[in-house]
Amino acid sequence: MNRRDFMTWVGVGFLGSSLPVAIAACSSKSVSGEFEAVGSLSELDASGQLLNENAHVGPVLVIRDPNNSATLLAVNPMCPHAGCTVSWQADKTRFVCPCHGSEFAVDRAVARGPAREPLGEYAVKVEGEQILAAKA
Ligand code: FES
Repeated sequence: MNRRDFMTWVGVGFLGSSLPVAIAACSSKSVSGEFEAVGSLSELDASGQLLNENAHVGPVLVIRDPNNSATLLAVNPMCPHAGCTVSWQADKTRFVCPCHGSEFAVDRAVARGPAREPLGEYAVKVEGEQILAAKA
């Protein structure tokens, strides 16, 4: 192996080992440990709920706990009845499904059918302005 072949071999090896790191660094999603940035506090406060249907952890709906606005709650907004997307109705303090009328309490429990299972849950935290969620 001459010097030129050796340098080519080393260069290809370096690129091959660096590519996954470079792709991760350029990803549009911000990941901190298993937590993923799903939106910002200003987005949440603009409408009272933050829906991110494209998060890697799954669809996420974030609200402020109506009993303690300093606490955030993150649920999977897919209705367990047939998969429609629920929204937060602050006046009812419930998550409401537009398809068949199921309602879920702030603790995700079924408050009104036909759904029989609670909404899914995520762990949630805030770092600066960013809201991060992870599988609970
Ligand atoms: S899909 Fe939500 S109540 Fe049927």
